[in-house]
Amino acid sequence: MEMEIKLDYADVNWQFVSETLKRVGMAYGEPAAHKKAFENSRVTVFIYREGQLIGFGRAISDDVFQAAIYDIAVVPEYQARGIGKIIIKTIMDKLSNCNFILYAAPGKEGFYQTLGFRKMKTGMALFLKAPQMKERGFTE
Ligand SMILES: CC(C)(COP(=O)(O)OP(=O)(O)OC[C@H]1O[C@@H](n2cnc3c(N)ncnc32)[C@H](O)[C@@H]1OP(=O)(O)O)[C@@H](O)C(=O)NCCC(=O)NCCS
Repeated sequence: MEMEIKLDYADVNWQFVSETLKRVGMAYGEPAAHKKAFENSRVTVFIYREGQLIGFGRAISDDVFQAAIYDIAVVPEYQARGIGKIIIKTIMDKLSNCNFILYAAPGKEGFYQTLGFRKMKTGMALFLKAPQMKERGFTE
């Protein structure tokens, strides 16, 4: 499948990003908030097919030691075609000297395991919406 990988966010439709995150069951907010989050990230990746955004992701990082991956999403019609893998690998290539951490959506751990990620034994999180995150299966 022909697709284009873009690292810049100049042409991104943030309304579509927000709607996609909602559609795939991930946390979402106002389009302007996503724009700011991506702009403030170290690496951003957007996958296009025939001019249409079909997947995206981002990583925050110190660019030396550590990176954290967020907002990895592929629109449902294009899932299971290797696009998620391309997004993660593109991020990892750009920050190849870094350790990566992330929290997988419950049920999506296997996707990250195919990319070499392993479950952490001592991962800790302090979420703003702690009860909701517990309810959704992210914390004990
Ligand atoms: C999770 C997601 C990003 C994966 O992207 P994708 O394009 O569908 O996945 P890919 O086709 O690149 O899959 C890569 C590999 O992971 C495997 N995989 C994908 N989803 C998986 C899952 N839920 N469990 C186990 N393995 C999975 C695939 O079988 C494939 O394996 P292979 O390399 O051995 O062939 C995508 O399905 C998605 O956007 N889901 C909804 C949003 C979401 O949950 N995002 C993650 C938040 S942490």
